[in-house]
Amino acid sequence: MANVTKSQAMRAQYAAWPYPQVPLLATLPGSHPFELHVAWAWDRCGSGPAPERPRIWIAGCGTFQPYAFAIANPRAEIVATDISEPSLRAAARRCAVHRQRHVRFAPVDLADESTWPDGSFDFIECYGVLMNLADPQRALRALRERLTPRGVLRLMLYPQWSRSRVFQLQRVARLLGLGAHDRSHPAAFRSFVRALPKAHPLRHAFVTYADSRNDAGVVDGFLHAGDRGFTAFQFGDLLANAGLVPGHWFHRPWAQPDTMAERLGLGDRTQTFVLNQLDLWHELRGNFVVCARRADAPPRETREPAPHPAFGRGGHGPRHRLHLERLRWFGGRVPSRTGSGDVVLRASDARSLRAGAAPDHLRESGIVLGGVDRAPRLPFHAPWSREPAFLAHASALRTGRRAPNPLYAHLFAAFELPQRHPELALPDLDAWMGRWLPWADPLEERPIRFGLTPYATLQRFRTNIAEHLTRGDLPVAHGYDAVRLRHDETMLARVRSLLREHGDLPAIERSDAALRELAVLLFTHDTLFLPIE
Ligand SMILES: C[S@@+](CC[C@H](N)C(=O)[O-])C[C@H]1O[C@@H](n2cnc3c(N)ncnc32)[C@H](O)[C@@H]1O
Repeated sequence: MANVTKSQAMRAQYAAWPYPQVPLLATLPGSHPFELHVAWAWDRCGSGPAPERPRIWIAGCGTFQPYAFAIANPRAEIVATDISEPSLRAAARRCAVHRQRHVRFAPVDLADESTWPDGSFDFIECYGVLMNLADPQRALRALRERLTPRGVLRLMLYPQWSRSRVFQLQRVARLLGLGAHDRSHPAAFRSFVRALPKAHPLRHAFVTYADSRNDAGVVDGFLHAGDRGFTAFQFGDLLANAGLVPGHWFHRPWAQPDTMAERLGLGDRTQTFVLNQLDLWHELRGNFVVCARRADAPPRETREPAPHPAFGRGGHGPRHRLHLERLRWFGGRVPSRTGSGDVVLRASDARSLRAGAAPDHLRESGIVLGGVDRAPRLPFHAPWSREPAFLAHASALRTGRRAPNPLYAHLFAAFELPQRHPELALPDLDAWMGRWLPWADPLEERPIRFGLTPYATLQRFRTNIAEHLTRGDLPVAHGYDAVRLRHDETMLARVRSLLREHGDLPAIERSDAALRELAVLLFTHDTLFLPIE
């Protein structure tokens, strides 16, 4: 029953708001999306050379991915499916306009295997979809069954901690009575959040979220009918229980578990342990995206170096051939989708690649496949049985004269983890900061606003946080109806007055508990601790 209800809600949401909202004539930037090529994914995962004509399934394809995969894989047989028929129609129109004819479209509910396409696949793409399902574990296990023995499944799910501001904004929307069911709600939510003070972390999170500029993006991010985040441990459990192992993390270099384990002195831990720390400290700067293989796949292999098919001969359309010609004459930059920076190709490199050679200096770039053993050094995953207790503590409404402000619950989680869970043998905060500093600083992209990351918060409030960590457990309240804020009546009146200023918000009854929670989320951003009685 839960499955059916959730699927119905998703079908309705994405039928009303096909996602992503991208102009029909938009093309992919300047170069071939080489990192979406099946040959690239197979190479990174140690699966060896990919089949000449791979079978690809884009499960939950939305409106844009079929086009991107079609250009990246001109010789593949592609099946693109989604629960939303308007999304499928938009994707099919895009492929037709851009003359990509090797994609077949079908309506599929991932929660109902009887609707799935037949056969097995060399590559399955499931990007930002499973968090919409009531039982993601079951769907992932079944998807794994559809992989060929060396096949690769690319999975994207939201990280719990890095995305906590988005989840808080979802909560604000729900308390305001805004949802995906009304065409006017995305605009109402946008104007409400944009009117918050410039330094408010929720406003900052909203305006820096690329999708907040269009209505379908606002619905997908903030007015969603039911998505969720995963901690790295939960992500690891999900993969392991489905019989999958990571072959390659589709992350930027500084969010690669092996690299960061070395830098942070976590070399004796698992990949998901390291990712959990990066997520807690807000340094993933993206979602969990992994290219996984079946746990029973043949052993990894390192193939002979060869040019990436996108830069070699054959199988390309006229536009791409023209682009390769330009590279052969003038060289140029080829953008990388994992944020590792552009690959700079000299004209002589492009000529060598075209001639079938694989220059040594391009081996790390992804433009040359093979030649390097990229097997992860860290073991993949060990479950952490006490995580549910930690998560319950982190989301509890704690009370007292100096209670942790719930708006900053995710930051407190980072500070409290080493202390509450000695079994993880994490360094204490000072030692951790010593390790963190050389890597954290260069990663801050702009002057940090108040309370943006645990790193920034600890820099500013070291004394208060140190003192907080010496206190024992605080009493916990079951909800906002059981507590009072300092100047409670005034705070509630302030919320009521703010809501009156926004005449486009739905006129619904709101309980004092709802107003109080809104007061905390909207008006307390300049304090890390709150009196909650
Ligand atoms: C966040 S969008 C991602 C779209 C696309 N993968 C991308 O990255 O652009 C989520 C997609 O999952 C689809 N979806 C949600 N629940 C589904 C289900 N039960 N079965 C199949 N597709 C589903 C939605 O219709 C929507 O297109």
